[in-house]
Amino acid sequence: MFKIKYLGIIIGCLSFFVACKSNNTSKNEMITADIDSLLEIRYRKLLEYRADSLAFPRSMSTKTKVIRKNGSKDWTSGFFPGSLWLLYQLTENMEYMEKAIEWTAFMEKEKYNDRSHDTGFMIYCSFGTGHKAIEKKEYQNVILEAARSLSKRFNKNVGSILSWDFGKDLWEFPVIIDNMMNLELLFEATKISGDSIYHQLAVQHANTTLENHFRVDNSTYHVVDYDTIHGTVRNKMTHQGFNDESSWARGQAWAIYGYTMAYRYTKEISYLNQAELTATYYLKHKNLPEDGIPYWDFADPNIPNAPRDVSASAIVASALFELYSYTENKKYVVYSQKVLETLKSKKYILENKEGPFILDSSTGNWPANDEIDGPIVYGDYYFLEAMLREKRFKSN
Ligand code: GLY
Repeated sequence: MFKIKYLGIIIGCLSFFVACKSNNTSKNEMITADIDSLLEIRYRKLLEYRADSLAFPRSMSTKTKVIRKNGSKDWTSGFFPGSLWLLYQLTENMEYMEKAIEWTAFMEKEKYNDRSHDTGFMIYCSFGTGHKAIEKKEYQNVILEAARSLSKRFNKNVGSILSWDFGKDLWEFPVIIDNMMNLELLFEATKISGDSIYHQLAVQHANTTLENHFRVDNSTYHVVDYDTIHGTVRNKMTHQGFNDESSWARGQAWAIYGYTMAYRYTKEISYLNQAELTATYYLKHKNLPEDGIPYWDFADPNIPNAPRDVSASAIVASALFELYSYTENKKYVVYSQKVLETLKSKKYILENKEGPFILDSSTGNWPANDEIDGPIVYGDYYFLEAMLREKRFKSN
């Protein structure tokens, strides 16, 4: 009798537990389905956006809903075709590929653009990402021509590629940490052509940046200005950060991604070390919020009321999937997956808004009060790249 009574209680508890669990499972399944369909709606907004060589979408004002559009020469223009290439790879839906081909063609004339280091972003995120998706000979030629244009900006006294042509009253030879990202174009150009010159310039640039851009705590300055005769450092400062000694979140992200990528091509251990040191600085920062999305600058005194920068989190999330593959340090993948979970939520996915964007809350240029806390095309690009890297990570 006693045994039967207790058996009854145990069975009761077990069925209660199973019922709760299946309730939770179906609730979670509903949330996942809900988010998947929200994402699908956003993806299709990119597809449905009318192709126009003069109207590459860059960002959208969350207040006025006005979409900022540019011709191909804006530094951000390669990200929209690149996002379509990533969507094609993520969804395997040919419609995205067709649209990506159409938009990528509009970028081609920028292969001759030697007026800014951004040729790397413009051509590599469009043609380079396309080449990774479908291996096209014509795309290789464009990458090669663009690498020739970018190489013209290399100064051998400095050992770096010049970033900007503007601001001659402020700088003599400004090199920004963002410029690390453009080395992928050069490394690939050597792989394509067999001509080692591009690889050599990329290595020199990475070495010079390694020597001068990092602080003792392994955060990075935004801008280092050089003397072009002696190659010495004239000044270290910021352009888009809170102040010269602050840590602009996207700058840290470019450094982590840039040195991880440079390690991929060189296997140079000091690059891997720098990527890890700056990643650790970023991940352990007391001002990195629990959900993984940084404020636009780690030193904004307005924290916790400062704007976030989704783009920085997406760049780091994507980079850390790669860094994990070299180090097998789980903390990298834990961060990347946390960021993707956070971003795949109603807080960050744009809802009920027109415009070819996926995520809200990136911050472009806070000191200029420009593109604050809204959708920006490179936030979407690196989010999609991180999603693709996660998909591959899971299938491995
Ligand atoms: N490369 C410019 C920026 O990150 O805003």
